[in-house]
Amino acid sequence: MTTTPLPGTDPAPPLLRVRDLAMTFPGRRRSAPVRAVDGVGFDLAAGETLGLVGESGCGKSTTGRMIVRLLEPTAGSVEYDGRPIAHLPQRALKPLRREIQMVFQDPHSSLNPRQRVARIIADPLLVQGSPATEARGRALELMELVGLIPEHADRFPHEFSGGQAQRIGIARALATGPRLVVADEPVSALDVSVQAQIVNLMERLQEELGLSYLFIAHDLSVVKRVCDRVAVMYLGRIVEIGAKDRVYGAPAHPYTRALLSAVPLPDPAAERARERITLLGDPPSPAAPPPGCTFHPRCPKARAICRAEAPALRPLAPGEPREVACHFPEQD
Ligand SMILES: Nc1ncnc2c1ncn2[C@@H]1O[C@H](COP(=O)(O)OP(=O)(O)OP(=O)(O)O)[C@@H](O)[C@H]1O
Ligand code: SF4
Ligand SMILES: [Mg+2]
Repeated sequence: MTTTPLPGTDPAPPLLRVRDLAMTFPGRRRSAPVRAVDGVGFDLAAGETLGLVGESGCGKSTTGRMIVRLLEPTAGSVEYDGRPIAHLPQRALKPLRREIQMVFQDPHSSLNPRQRVARIIADPLLVQGSPATEARGRALELMELVGLIPEHADRFPHEFSGGQAQRIGIARALATGPRLVVADEPVSALDVSVQAQIVNLMERLQEELGLSYLFIAHDLSVVKRVCDRVAVMYLGRIVEIGAKDRVYGAPAHPYTRALLSAVPLPDPAAERARERITLLGDPPSPAAPPPGCTFHPRCPKARAICRAEAPALRPLAPGEPREVACHFPEQD
């Protein structure tokens, strides 16, 4: 059924619509199942970059892997360009692989060390059935597009630096002309100076090709630089999502505040003056999440209701596009 959009709302559906997405991994031996992702939902518009941040193990990569369908979700829906894709059978995934691609964290380990670069970049086209000479020609064009020298097409991955290897990973992701790229910590393994070059490249490619990015990272400074909106994850759920300037400028969830208070400020005076919120301990195991608000054992604002009732993700104020899952969000 198609519903008529309300007057004044954007009639175009988002490129990606994720609802109640969940992934439970079976526990090893007799241990409890791991609820790696536990009800994640967001929209991503065409041409937009959404950052996905949170501590190690909160479910960022699992979320990304379900969207590109390297994993089939245990529950929930993913709509790409209006089509449900979360539970498509393997044989129906081939056309989708043209449209949605992934860039990985460790460029060298994600490239086949025994293949030459042109072959690596051409691989997604060969899988789609392109003739070999055509795929190679396209690979050379892509090398140029991402700032590599096409004359190096017959070299092996180990002959390239980390930054160049990530350019190869990006070229491979772009081979089939995708509209959505899920980038899972694309610069975390690189030197800081090289990180900026790769971020610049991704921004230029987005502009030239109209790409949408789901940009996964634990470095909040990188996310601040590249994203339009940001989603903060904690223990398999989104606890705050909204426009970057709003979330960074006035974080409403105690967890977002704590994460941001740990990001170094460039101005030393501001750095000395600001309040740091230290989080106690590590995140709990997703195999045994705490009751109520799962952040309560580490939250400086926790009260009785927090231990009993899980807060829903809801708009911070009526009509505000920012959503927060907290019984006592910070209002600015
Ligand atoms: N295949 C798997 N089998 C069992 N548990 C898994 C599997 N993959 C991930 N997990 C668990 O799911 C949780 C979420 O993992 P995930 O890799 O999505 O986190 P992440 O946010 O990407 O972390 P990081 O920042 O370290 O990359 C973790 O507790 C992890 O141990
Ligand atoms: S619901 Fe309570 S415990 Fe959870 S983040 Fe908000 S104040 Fe903290
Ligand atoms: Mg990860």
